[in-house]
Amino acid sequence: MANNLLKGKRGIIFGALDENSIAWKVALKAKEEGATFVLTNAPIALRAKKIFELAEMTNSEVIPADITQVDELENLLTESMAVLGGKIDFILHSVGMSPNVRKGLHYTELDYNHMVKTLDVSAISLHKLLQVAYHMDAISEWGSVIAMSYIGSQRTYSSYSDMSQAKAMLESIVRSFGYHYGRKKKVRINSISQSPTVTTAGTGVKGFKSFYAYANSMSPLGNATSDSCADYCVVMFSDLTKMVTMQNLFHDGGYSTMGISDEVMDNCFVCDDEECKAKKIEKIVRKK
Ligand SMILES: NC(=O)c1ccc[n+]([C@@H]2O[C@H](COP(=O)([O-])OP(=O)(O)OC[C@H]3O[C@@H](n4cnc5c(N)ncnc54)[C@H](O)[C@@H]3O)[C@@H](O)[C@H]2O)c1
Repeated sequence: MANNLLKGKRGIIFGALDENSIAWKVALKAKEEGATFVLTNAPIALRAKKIFELAEMTNSEVIPADITQVDELENLLTESMAVLGGKIDFILHSVGMSPNVRKGLHYTELDYNHMVKTLDVSAISLHKLLQVAYHMDAISEWGSVIAMSYIGSQRTYSSYSDMSQAKAMLESIVRSFGYHYGRKKKVRINSISQSPTVTTAGTGVKGFKSFYAYANSMSPLGNATSDSCADYCVVMFSDLTKMVTMQNLFHDGGYSTMGISDEVMDNCFVCDDEECKAKKIEKIVRKK
């Protein structure tokens, strides 16, 4: 049910690659809530053409921009304000990529050129975007910027690789720029730390299925879906959350606060207590 939470608001949504993308769901939900916006992605990602289907569904324009290129960001903001007819009220930064993860390099064997690229695309890009917007005065007062993060920023996930450093930097930029933009223009900047989600970026991480299943059995509410993430983003873009800024907001069904759950204990075969193992196997067989 739509509540017109974003009626009259203008936005820019980065990162819709296909219908599984978190940004895709956010775009559909923002449209439902009355927003108008521009969709953007790297020129190379537009070749997949999927984004144009979303543009048609949401009646929005697609303006390409590589988020690491300052001149392309300047063009994106100028064009978006022209198309939408004024300053921008909300921005979703839903972008991440690690060549080290893509190439399956072990954390102790990272390629540093790849690592610089990971940090540039997944974290420094947020600074570039905010700095360009700040100098152009492109975001309205009380505007809201959300960047997508993951708990691997704060805890060690053995195969999350250099994305851990990228997310730590991203969350730090949220706090630092949040201060300056808040002081100057009352612009709010937050990150949302989302559950493992089945998307192109998510499933590219080694062992994703285990990440997903483990988080699901740890979280009292289960993993948060991309649809519910879109709901949260919409609320964060709305005027109902005006005083929230510089936060890393967990959207994870309770996972980040857990230590261990009954479900994880029931499925744990790491301990070498034979009696305990036998009981667990029996339980699983009975369930089937
Ligand atoms: N999927 C998960 O499990 C999960 C969990 C927590 C956080 N996140 C974060 O959510 C965000 C969105 O990822 P997703 O899961 O929807 O996957 P996705 O693969 O659908 O989206 C990633 C997007 O980044 C874009 N991108 C990459 N390089 C770019 C560049 N140079 N310029 C502009 N865009 C570029 C891609 O084209 C793609 O659209 C990422 O920041 C990701 O780290 C994902």
